[in-house]
Amino acid sequence: MKKILFASSEAVPFIKTGGLADVTGSLPKYFNHKKYDVRVILPKYACMEEQFKQQLEPVTEFYVELGWRKQYAGILKAKADGIQYYFVDNEFYFAGSRPYGEIYQDVEKFAFFSKAVLDALENIGFLPDIIHCHDWQTGLIPVFLEKVYKKRDPYKQIRTIFSIHNIRFQGRWKLPEVKDVTGLPEDVFTAEGIESYGESNYLKGGIVYSDAVTTVSKSYAMEIMTQQGGEGLDGVLRRYGFKLFGIVNGIDYEAFNPQTDAYIPFHYTAKNVLAQKKKNKQKLQEASNLPKSGDTFLIGMVSRMSFQKGFDLIACMMEEFLAKEQVQVVVLGTGEERYEQMFCYFAEKYPDKISVKIGYSEQDAHLIYAGADAFLMPSLFEPCGLSQLIAMRYGTAPIVRETGGLKDTVEPYNKFTQEGTGFSFANFDAKEMTEILYSAMDLYNTQKRNWNDLLIRGMNQDFSWSGSVEEYEKLYENVCRI
Ligand code: ADP
Ligand code: GLC
Repeated sequence: MKKILFASSEAVPFIKTGGLADVTGSLPKYFNHKKYDVRVILPKYACMEEQFKQQLEPVTEFYVELGWRKQYAGILKAKADGIQYYFVDNEFYFAGSRPYGEIYQDVEKFAFFSKAVLDALENIGFLPDIIHCHDWQTGLIPVFLEKVYKKRDPYKQIRTIFSIHNIRFQGRWKLPEVKDVTGLPEDVFTAEGIESYGESNYLKGGIVYSDAVTTVSKSYAMEIMTQQGGEGLDGVLRRYGFKLFGIVNGIDYEAFNPQTDAYIPFHYTAKNVLAQKKKNKQKLQEASNLPKSGDTFLIGMVSRMSFQKGFDLIACMMEEFLAKEQVQVVVLGTGEERYEQMFCYFAEKYPDKISVKIGYSEQDAHLIYAGADAFLMPSLFEPCGLSQLIAMRYGTAPIVRETGGLKDTVEPYNKFTQEGTGFSFANFDAKEMTEILYSAMDLYNTQKRNWNDLLIRGMNQDFSWSGSVEEYEKLYENVCRI
């Protein structure tokens, strides 16, 4: 039995700000549990919902040496869906109303978390074969392990895998301060180590010091090795390309299942999708204060409101689109104020055409996936993207830009062969996006049969974790042989 520990800054159901939490909270369930004991370790944030905090049982406590300081760490545990979760408690670091705050605080917070994770292993009696680290917040785990912990016996055999979910966020901060906080040796802070453009860079640490690096789609793995997509780390990634692997994300087929989803009023499979979706669409229109009309082309969006998601393109064409007859848009999201305001402006101007909810809601999100005709996701960049996968699972046609995981998971409609599961365009260009959007709308309005077949093809794809889990298992085996 191989022991694997996921180290992450978020995981559903405990704490989520984005798709990272969906991945770390669902992937562990789908390993072959006869061969892999997969557990997860997270920070215990003050902002975690009370119902989860109450489930936590204390395990142990100790002090973490962080540079010249000693900081308290408590370890707690809870089970979710049969998976063992551990939590690192420190009320100073993990206070606040959100998991992440100012970067100067976050670099210290996650240096502490990384070291506490390593110290915890002996204390909880779970010495894993592999620590599977996720995103920059855990980038120092491979660094501490290589430079400090491997001197000690039980740690010598541990291997690390570092997964990049978004290379845009790297955890960059001033060298002297990170030196002071971490107490790591001088040679770590060089160009061969975690130094990058005169700063220390946690993500680079994860790349350089881990045994293997993964990212969440094959296209994104290629893109981050280019100057355009590498966010300054393309050179490092090309150098370490020999240990970089793209493994596409799946979605939790239990949580996202239109046949059983408790958040949606009318359940369905590919067999009765058309009739049932119609009813869900009515419910969505009702809940969104939009006129109830089965024939109106309804576009849904559920997203962090970040420039990453292509809202600048949407801003360019919204006015023109909403001036058309027979269109509706339902938006759910929160994030950058300029995008929130843009949508609120249109919602005020066209109350019969667009409904906007600023906020986070599982319930509303699921109803949009189930009730919309199409799902718009024209991202500037997208490491994988889960929303387009959920949309297809719920019989909603994705309209996406061909980047990263969107390119790998949405097959564009071919009007000659009637193949494809969605619609896509290549360049980050509002005109291109609008053309594709109109061609999707045209298919919806004039060729219902072809439109319906496209939805069903999308529903029949397999976006579960099963294929990717096999790739991870293979990688685990190979890494253990290093
Ligand atoms: P990212 O991680 O970049 O935000 P993903 O597509 O990988 O993008 O994952 C986003 C996840 O978060 C999806 O499960 C999506 O449904 C969900 N989500 C995003 N915004 C909201 C929101 N406002 N309310 C509910 N769920 C949301
Ligand atoms: C990041 C990416 C998203 C990906 C998610 C989970 O948040 O932006 O594309 O799906 O991580 O890997």
